[in-house]
Order: sequence, then C-alpha cells, then structure tokens
Amino acid sequence: MCGIIGYVGERDVLPVLVEGLRRLEYRGYDSAGVCVVNGSGTLEIVRAVGKLRALEERLAERRPKGSTGLGHSRWATHGRPSESNAHPHADCTGKLVVIHNGIIENYAELRERLAAGGHKFASETDTEVLVHLFEDKLKALAKGSTAFAPDFKEPMFFEATRQALAEVTGAYAIAVMWAETPGTIICAKTASPMVIGLGDKETFVASDVPAVMDHTKKVVFLEDNEMAVLTKDKASFFKTTGQKIEKKPVVISWDRGMAEKGGYRHFMLKEIFEQPNTIADTLRGRLYPLTPATLEAETGCPAAVLKSAKRVHLLACGTAFHAGLVGRYLIEQVCGVPAEAETASEFRYRDPILGPDTLVVAISQSGETADTLGAIQLAKQKGAKVFAICNSVGSALTRAADYNLYTRCGPEYGVASTKAFVGQLVALDILAVYLALARGTLTDESAKAFIDELSHMPVLVRKALQLNDETLRLAKLYEKKRDFLYIGRHVNYPLALEGALKLKEISYIHAEGYAAGEMKHGPIALIDEDVPVVAIATESKVLDKVLSNIEEAKARGAKTIAVVTEGDKRLEGKVDHLLPVPKASEFLAPILNVIPLQLLAYHIANLRGADVDQPRNLAKSVTVE
Ligand code: AGP
Repeated sequence: MCGIIGYVGERDVLPVLVEGLRRLEYRGYDSAGVCVVNGSGTLEIVRAVGKLRALEERLAERRPKGSTGLGHSRWATHGRPSESNAHPHADCTGKLVVIHNGIIENYAELRERLAAGGHKFASETDTEVLVHLFEDKLKALAKGSTAFAPDFKEPMFFEATRQALAEVTGAYAIAVMWAETPGTIICAKTASPMVIGLGDKETFVASDVPAVMDHTKKVVFLEDNEMAVLTKDKASFFKTTGQKIEKKPVVISWDRGMAEKGGYRHFMLKEIFEQPNTIADTLRGRLYPLTPATLEAETGCPAAVLKSAKRVHLLACGTAFHAGLVGRYLIEQVCGVPAEAETASEFRYRDPILGPDTLVVAISQSGETADTLGAIQLAKQKGAKVFAICNSVGSALTRAADYNLYTRCGPEYGVASTKAFVGQLVALDILAVYLALARGTLTDESAKAFIDELSHMPVLVRKALQLNDETLRLAKLYEKKRDFLYIGRHVNYPLALEGALKLKEISYIHAEGYAAGEMKHGPIALIDEDVPVVAIATESKVLDKVLSNIEEAKARGAKTIAVVTEGDKRLEGKVDHLLPVPKASEFLAPILNVIPLQLLAYHIANLRGADVDQPRNLAKSVTVE
C-alpha cells in the first residue's frame, strides 16, 4: 500500500511532489523519496527512511530543481524499511527511475536473470527488478546504440516499458522516467490503483485522488493492463498490448476526507471493502510453486522446522487472538499436530511449559502489542522458535521473530480490525498448507485443491460483501438493543467471539460471543425478546448442533440472525433473518462468515452515531500492558 505521485508541467515540481506525498500519508509509509529531472537532464534522487519529515530535511540540504518528477512513500512488503530500499529506484546507468505500488510475484527469477546479465542491484526490493528490466529492453531496442533519434526516444521508451511489463507477474502501479525524455512520464497499472490528473499544461499521476485534487478535479482512473504516456500537454492511453485507447475523464466531487477514504464514510468501511484485494495481495507469490523453497523464500522458515515441531502454540491479543483460535482448529486437524491458541497476556504470566519442540505462531497487525511481544520473548527464552504473522514490516515483533509471514493488507486505520483479521486467516491457511505438506498430512492433490479454493476467496468475499444492504436493514431493526449474543461452534466459535468484539468495540453495545454448546450452561438465562442472537450456522459437521442451539434461543423469545451457506434451506423459516454467504469448505468458511458480522457491527455503530474509526477508550496498537 505505497503512495506514488508524478508530475510533468511548468511548475517547480518539488513542492508538488512533497505535498502530494503528504496527502497520501494515510496510505502509511516507512520511507519516502523523490526524483527530479533537473535542468541539465540528470535524474536527481533524494530518499529518506522514516516519516515524510525526514525526506523534507534531506531536501532542505539538497533541493533538486526541475518540472518533471516522481515521488513515493513506501509501505514495505519486500525488504526492510531503509534508505536503500526506498523508492525511486534507478537502473545501472542512472538514467532510468521507477516508483511502484504493488508486489512483483516473479521478482526473484527476474533478479537472478538480470544479475546474471551483469546488472548490479542496490536494494532488497522486488521493485528494483523493474528498472533493470526496462534498461535491458531499451538497450535491446536501441540495438546497443546510445545516439537515439530525438523523435524516436519516446516511442522507444514506451515500447521498452511495455515489453518489460509483459515479463512481469504480480500487482503494480508504476511510473517511470528516462533522462533522455525529460518531459515524459510513462505509467502502467495492474491490480494496484492509479489515477491520472489532467491540468492546464500539467499532468499528474498518483495512487489516489487526494494527491492531485489540490491541482485538478479532472481525472482518469486507469484500469488493469492499461498504460499512459504523460507530457505537460496531454495524457495518451494504451493497452499493455500497445493498442491506443480513449479514456473518458471524470470530475471528482469528493472533499479531502472522503477522498482519503476512497469515497467511504469511514476507514473501517473502506477497509472492509478492500478485503478482496488484500486477500489477493497476501496470497500473491506464495502458493506457486507449492514447495518448501517458496515458503522459505517468503518467510525464512525451512521445512525442517515445520516437520519437526511437536506442538504449535498460537499467541495473540484481541481480534488477532480470534484468528489464532481459527488457526488452532485448522492446524490441528489439517496438519495433524497438537495446537493451542492463547491470549498473550495469559500465556506470559502462567509460566508455560514449552521448548525447542514447540513452534510458536505470533499474530499481530501492528507488531507492537506489548503483551504479544512479552509472550514471544518468554517463548524464545524457553527455546521455542517464533513464526510471526504480521502486517507491519520492520515492527518489533518481526524483528524479534525467527520467521515472518506478512499479511500485506496495507495500513489499517480503523481501530476495529477487519482486513487484517482476514489477512491473518489467509496467512494461517498458507502456513497450514506448508505445515501439512512438510508433515505429509496433505497429499499434493488435496493441497492443490485447498489452495485453488483459497485463491478463489477474493471472488467469494466480493460476493459476500453484497450483504451490505441487508446488514444495514438489520442494523436499523436492532441498533437500539442493549445486549447481543453471538454463538458458533468449531471454527465458527472464534467467529462468534470476533463478531461480538466488532459490535461491542465500535457501538458500545454489550455483546458476548459464546461457544454455542455452552448456552445451556448459563448464557441461555440471558435470553429474552430483547437479546438478539447472531448464530454462525454455515455448513459444517456440527451444523445440526448449532440448529438445536438456535431453536433453544428462539424458544425463549430471542430474535435470531443466522449466517448461513447460500442454498442451505435448513434454516429457512427457523430464524428471523438469514445472511447467506457463498459455499466454502469448513476451514476456509471463516473468511466469508466474518464479512456480514463486520458489516452488521459497522452499520449499527454508524446508525448510533459512534466514532467508528476511533472508538472511545481504544488505541489501534496497545503498546502498553
Ligand atoms: C480488534 O478490533 C482490536 N482493535 C484489538 O483487539 C486488536 O486486534 C488487538 O489489540 C491486537 O492488536 P495487534 O493485532 O496489532 O497485535
């Protein structure tokens, strides 16, 4: 989730770039950089690790002047936050630079090939392979000559970029500059957002509208597999096949706040709707080929560690703990290894018994949660290996862990965790597949079936998001209730906990999540017509039991809302409201089942006028005990 900004026009470009990066701060970043084509046609790059202020301090010392330039704020996915990993990245000649938002899936093989061809790499990023690839293609097109015919430079630059991208798999929104064509920026987009701003004798490219809306409201949203050639007078559009296309500009009417939220009222709702993309990003480059080398390249974890673990202990807090609870069922039953999930705050003070034969899986969106950090320190002292699932590259957890699998959800601004939770479930699914293969509890065929279904999840989540209107309708019916009960069994028991947490933390309504089988051991005393019961009742081996629990609740007057599998008729007429989600196998269903729970909580809180993104008493990262 990086921020990119580019400008070509008649103004001093630096203030446009820096202000544009400031407008993109909400996209999160750990480093930033700019590149300006200066008066002598040289590409000047200035980068800094840390907040935008660090870059501005650098620019105060050295202020490149020009009217064409690129700016970038990095949210690391490959390579720790550092100046050398910050964008823009230049090729070996220093005459080509690129900025990139996305993930290059086949960067390792491209890097190996380019290095074998003599390219020297200066960073650990996936992005850098792009600029060396552009360099190769330019050389090939120029057949080694360096005297380029002036009117042929731009078409050759475009063609070199186009040909290079044909060899790239993954997600990208890129902007490229070549010193030989100082008034031109070439852009390309696939799977990551990109907007072109059309001004008067000036043209802009950015990740998002906020970076350009101070200068122009007339924009073009690029679609996947499209390119643009920007000069100060015009923007020309093409398919990556090279075919020229016309794109109709739109006029943006958003204010800045809405623009930062992509037109949504709250970051939380934007992040709920980002989930198809964040799932795809989390899966990207991690499932094919399905070999131990792929996981080790991504995480540093050798198959031997997965094979030798005698126990798996999942540690986390809050929503991340709920993901860990789902992971516990998954790992125990798919990988055939005893697994336990525990809140970090309890683990660290009970003097747990574990050692080198225990694989600890620490889950955290921020990577800075004090209790989780304390728990893994204790685990490491006792000799356990720590495998972290985290959304924040370079965070304390990822520095302390032995192995890291990033969820690549981009910054999550809503205090109530949504896309990070689903990213954690997906990361646990990835870990479980490799764990099962390492231990021989999944055949290659069943592993492939699992990851094929996992790869299809973005499509199914997009379908589940169509429940938005129905959850809003239910929210209007129940927003005044003072108590809710959420129930589920097996992998849907953690979903009951998560649904209740979502509701209570943003609407301030008392909500409890319970194992459905526990109802008769006490909680059923709470039920009457004023206590809606939300049941997660999708197809599973325990569904009949859940149906009985729903009957028990209804018999005591409760209004019942059930998350069910599309097409399953067993609950029709038996509950007050159905929330049908697409069919999925038992261990992947939680990814879909949580969607209506997130939406219901959001709409109830919004109707109650709650501060959805920053609920009272809560912090996004609990860095204190
Ligand atoms: C979830 O909606 C909450 N914001 C909270 O429970 C959160 O999940 C918990 O504090 C853990 O945070 P982490 O994932 O950053 O470690």
